Amino acid sequence: MKSKLLDIFNRRHACHLFQADRPLTAEDIDFILEAGRLSPSSFGLEPWKFVVLTSQHDKLALQHACFQQPQVGTASVVIVVLAKLAEMDPDSEYLRRLMSREYPGDALDAALKNYRAFHAATDVKAWSEHQCHIAAANMMTAAAGIDIDSCAIGGFDPAEVRRILGFDPVRRHPALILAFGYCAQAPGEKQRLPLDELVEYR
Ligand SMILES: Cc1cc2nc3c(=O)[nH]c(=O)nc-3n(C[C@H](O)[C@H](O)[C@H](O)COP(=O)(O)O)c2cc1C
Repeated sequence: MKSKLLDIFNRRHACHLFQADRPLTAEDIDFILEAGRLSPSSFGLEPWKFVVLTSQHDKLALQHACFQQPQVGTASVVIVVLAKLAEMDPDSEYLRRLMSREYPGDALDAALKNYRAFHAATDVKAWSEHQCHIAAANMMTAAAGIDIDSCAIGGFDPAEVRRILGFDPVRRHPALILAFGYCAQAPGEKQRLPLDELVEYR
């Protein structure tokens, strides 16, 4: 199991050009989305939405918003991970509904009070966005596990993405764009710092 997992982490790489004529199946897309859905989140608030684009028209429009990065237009599927903003408000119905799963019954009011203080002291956009990155990483790793390639794309114009997808900036913020498909290029050698440069045992 350990070596299988490490193989998957090693296999995943940023693909910069996909085989445009090799689509993913609906089952594969669902599998990838499920990996995102099952991701952990702060307070269990699942601060993400996954917008799935499969039409060539939409992918090319989005490629334009990603400074013409060709992996967007050639990918079989592009998933835009949107961070929820408005739902994170302590007075939202969504917040109450999700918090009541972790804090049922009488525990809810105290939890909401704590959350209100946390929310006031937090950069909600950054907090929500960081968690979207966790879901995104899980989706890319899951894809690699079934031999599907991916690329995380942070290089985009958020205003353009918003214009193309038509969402309310008060409610949503584009956290990351994920391109999935079968890579048209062989991966380069994995470049990573060694553990002894990254890890400090105390
Ligand atoms: C948050 C984030 C944003 C990224 N944005 C881009 C991007 O806009 N374009 C791109 O080609 N790669 C992008 N990448 C991929 C990285 O360049 C790539 O993961 C890194 O160079 C390591 O290479 P590897 O993933 O092949 O191991 C992004 C990765 C992350 C995590």
